Amino acid sequence: MHRHPARRPKNVPITASKGSPYARIEGLGAAVPSRVVDNAEMCTYIDSSDEWIQQRTGIIERRWVGPGEDVRTLSLAAARQAIERAGLTPADVDAVIISTVSHLVQTPSLAAIVAAELGCQDAAAFDISAACAGFCYGIGMAESLVRSGAATHVLAIGAETLSEMTDLSDRSTAFLFADGAGAAVVGPSDVATMGPIVWGSDGDQATVIEMNRTWPEAVASGQPSQIMMDGRPVFRWATTFIAEAAHRALAAAGLAPEDLDVFVPHQANNRITDAMLRHLKLPDSVKVARTIKHYGNNSAASIGVALDAMIASGEAKSGDTCLIIGFGAGLVYAGQVITIP
Ligand SMILES: CC(C)(COP(=O)(O)OP(=O)(O)OC[C@H]1O[C@@H](n2cnc3c(N)ncnc32)[C@H](O)[C@@H]1OP(=O)(O)O)[C@@H](O)C(=O)NCCC(=O)NCCS
Repeated sequence: MHRHPARRPKNVPITASKGSPYARIEGLGAAVPSRVVDNAEMCTYIDSSDEWIQQRTGIIERRWVGPGEDVRTLSLAAARQAIERAGLTPADVDAVIISTVSHLVQTPSLAAIVAAELGCQDAAAFDISAACAGFCYGIGMAESLVRSGAATHVLAIGAETLSEMTDLSDRSTAFLFADGAGAAVVGPSDVATMGPIVWGSDGDQATVIEMNRTWPEAVASGQPSQIMMDGRPVFRWATTFIAEAAHRALAAAGLAPEDLDVFVPHQANNRITDAMLRHLKLPDSVKVARTIKHYGNNSAASIGVALDAMIASGEAKSGDTCLIIGFGAGLVYAGQVITIP
C-alpha cells in the first residue's frame, strides 16, 4: 500500500495580508464622447417625439462615440483625471477594475490593456460584468481590496459604449442608451468614509434586459448582438425593490435621509429617480443627480459621470455625504454611502 510521507509539523504561522481599517474615494474622473445626439436626430431613427422621450425618461440629448473614440479611450480619459485628482501617479495604482459589457473580446481584459497604457506597472487588472450597477460594484470591490490589504490604491472604472450594441430601429431602447466612462481611485483611510455595500442579484429576471445573440449566433446571422429590454418589469423592479435597497444602504451606514447631502442613483430614467425620492423621503436640501438629461443612460458610467458633473457645477462638494445606487441587467444592484473627495 502506498504510504504518504509523515507530515512535517507546521510551526511557522502564515503571514496574512493586513489592510487599512477604512477606505475612501481619493479622486473621481469622467469622460463622455464629443458627439451629441439630440431627440430630433433620435426621431430620424425611430417613430417617436422629443416630447414623448422627455416626458417618459427626462432625456434631452445623449452622447455617442464617433471616430477615434471607444470604450478604451473613454476609460483612459476618465482614469487619468481620477488619478490626477487623487494626487497620485499611475505607478501608485496597484489594482485596476473595469466594469463593462462593451469590451468586445472576452480576453484580454480591458483593465489589463488600460492599466498598461496608463502606466500602472504590474497592477492587478480584471473586468467585471455588472451592467448598469457596474460603477457601484467596482467601488465596493475596490473598498474591499483596500481594507483586506490586497491593494493600496485601486482604480475602479465603469465604461460603456452601448450605442454600438443598440438596435437603432427598436423604439423601446434606441432613445435610452448612451456612452461614457466614470472612474474612481479608492485608497486607505483612518476614518470611516464609506458605508457598507448593499448588493444582490435576481437572475430569475435575467431575460428582461439581455443581449439577443450569442457570439456564434451573431456570426451565423451576420447581425451584431444587441440589447433587448422589456421596460415595464425593469421599471417596476427599480421603483419598488431598488428604492427599498437604497433605503437599506442608507440605514446600513447608520444614516437618516436628512444626513445626506447628495443622492446619485443610476441615471436610468428620471421617473425611476422620482419614485426613489418619494420612497426615501429625502429632504429638499439633498441634491439629486439628473444628468440623464444631457448624457442619456450610459450604464456603468452613469454614476461616475453624474458625480463629476455635480462636483463641476458646485452641486456636490468635497466632504459631502452621498448615497449611490446602481441597478441593471442581471438583474443586479449595489448601493453604498460614500464621501465626496
Ligand atoms: C422604456 C420606457 C421608457 C417605456 O415607457 P412605457 O411607459 O413603459 O412605454 P410602453 O412600452 O408601455 O408604451 C406606452 C405607449 O408609448 C408608446 N411608445 C413606446 N415607445 C415609444 C417611443 N419610443 N416613442 C413614442 N411612443 C412610444 C407605445 O406605443 C404605447 O402607446 P399606446 O399607449 O398608444 O399603446 C419605460 O418602460 C422605462 O423607462 N422602463 C425602465 C427602463 C430602464 O430604465 N432601463 C434601464 C435600466 S438599467
